[in-house]
Amino acid sequence: CGIIGYIGDKNAIQIVLDGLKKLEYRGYDSAGIACLLNGKIKTVKCKGKIKNLESLVDDSLKQSKIAIGHTRWATHGKPSDENAHPHCSGSIALVHNGIIENYAEIKKELQTEGYKFVSQTDTEVIAHLIRKYRENNLSLEDSIRKAVSRLRGSYAIVIMDDKEPDKLIGVRMESPLVVGISDGEKFIASDVPAFLNHCNKALFLEDGEMIVLNKEGFRVYNLEGKEKKKTPITITWTASMAEKGGFKHFMLKEIYEQPRALSDTIRGRVLSDQGKIVFEEFGLTRDEMRRIEKIYLVACGTSYHACLIGEYIIENIAQIPVEVDIASEFRYRNIPFEKNSLFVAITQSGETADTLAALRYAKKFGVKTLSICNVLGSTASREADAVFYTHSGPEIGVASTKAFTCQIVALYILSIGLSIAKGVFPKIFIKNLLEELLLLPRMAEETLLLDKKIQLLAKEVYRKPNFLYLGRGVNYPVALEGALKLKEISYIHAEGYAAGEMKHGPIALVEEGFPVVFIASDDLYLEKTISNIEEIKARDGFIITISSSKEEKLKKLSDRFIYVEGINSYLNTVLFSIPLQLLAYHVALLRGCDVDQPRNLAKSVTVE
Ligand code: G6P
Repeated sequence: CGIIGYIGDKNAIQIVLDGLKKLEYRGYDSAGIACLLNGKIKTVKCKGKIKNLESLVDDSLKQSKIAIGHTRWATHGKPSDENAHPHCSGSIALVHNGIIENYAEIKKELQTEGYKFVSQTDTEVIAHLIRKYRENNLSLEDSIRKAVSRLRGSYAIVIMDDKEPDKLIGVRMESPLVVGISDGEKFIASDVPAFLNHCNKALFLEDGEMIVLNKEGFRVYNLEGKEKKKTPITITWTASMAEKGGFKHFMLKEIYEQPRALSDTIRGRVLSDQGKIVFEEFGLTRDEMRRIEKIYLVACGTSYHACLIGEYIIENIAQIPVEVDIASEFRYRNIPFEKNSLFVAITQSGETADTLAALRYAKKFGVKTLSICNVLGSTASREADAVFYTHSGPEIGVASTKAFTCQIVALYILSIGLSIAKGVFPKIFIKNLLEELLLLPRMAEETLLLDKKIQLLAKEVYRKPNFLYLGRGVNYPVALEGALKLKEISYIHAEGYAAGEMKHGPIALVEEGFPVVFIASDDLYLEKTISNIEEIKARDGFIITISSSKEEKLKKLSDRFIYVEGINSYLNTVLFSIPLQLLAYHVALLRGCDVDQPRNLAKSVTVE
């Protein structure tokens, strides 16, 4: 989602609308604004793009000098007029990015106290909470502090109060918020491009900080109300760099967003301290999960590779037989569906034509369906019986990165849910798996530190015409995805293979300097993978190994060795994918390719 707020002497509505257009790439399913006019809050909001919103804004509002705006990428509550931000309660209007994990319990409490909810969002609870404390005679600042102390989750919030008409307040927790500082006017936004046209002095808020803005100045506090000193910095980014958060391409930005995306996908779904998951998140009850005897995982492209990884994870952790298929094949097969089957469609966009056709095909036979989707309200999310959202945020680069790793996390959580429902493993085993999952975002962050090393590697190999990627077990699909990434954006011919199949064909290609990328966890396959590496070595191939093992022999045999600190074999697939994404990115860059929009490819393939 995108947020922008303005306070100053200019036409606040116009500045906010322009800012929203600059943020539209972050989310675009609905939008809204609120401003103060003659001491009263006026809001305009609607489903759809910002130009729809613009057409609804009355000229009289353009007198306002203080306004907030929001462009939404739905997470809780489908895209609709009511669910669009700002959300209001009493004298309060606010916009929010992020996810409030405990909103359901707060909502229940507020409803019992008589607060009326008009949306299905998690955000609305914040507006009512602030109002509640405000009506208990707390100052606006204290009411906000008290309200946010009740929230669990991530948030960037900007708040307006018609009783304090010369103030805008922002609070940040694990969701970005940046303030633009200029003489006589202030901006507050989720991202710099929203105000870069107006000012280039910025102050980036950190987690647990609250800023109080008026047109003349600002004060920053921590959540205990203690004032902090902070100095703005000068932004030297161009507008197009700013849109990509300072990164050269959306793809690189999205690779770097993975720690946050993974954490948002895990958030609210896992109660690791109790060794439990939140079943309701799947839209399937524990009982429904217990009855499942067969699972079909179906998708296209990168999402299909997530399915293949899911097959290993589910079969191991939940011990349910899994069949994986490419959607364009599945839809034309004559499948004798087994009873008590679950069909799972995995799709970032929720709009891929073949995946939707496969979903409809399964439904026709009365099979229970689940979609794992990144876009709220998308066709797949609406048509499947149940939906589990990956919270990657909008993915703009055509080559999927963060959506893919979040799909793996979704499948990992699904497999644990199924395992708990069926009572496959002792509690302690499940608890460990969940605790390991919570380590993933931080480990992903550490893995990103390999970027420099991968960049150097890319320089060595970018002129090679062919690549082979090999892995065993759950790393076999990681190899497929590594090869696909390189092929998609650098146009180098790359093939992924199961390492054990190497001798049945691909080895014929290997000659001196032929690059072979091995992916290996420190697990029971390691010895066998090392044997494969020896076979490539004997033919003078150029061996690049990505591994969580520190085994000396492995290092010695490899021409280039990329060590990744691992967690467990399943979650390592996420971590290994990061250097593979970076390798594809840097190679494509060196070859002068259009990374974000590779030739002939589309982000979402909505035709057969
Ligand atoms: C296209 C995209 C891929 C994506 C695939 C499936 O081919 O270029 O990046 O993996 O579609 O898309 P979906 O939205 O269904 O996951």
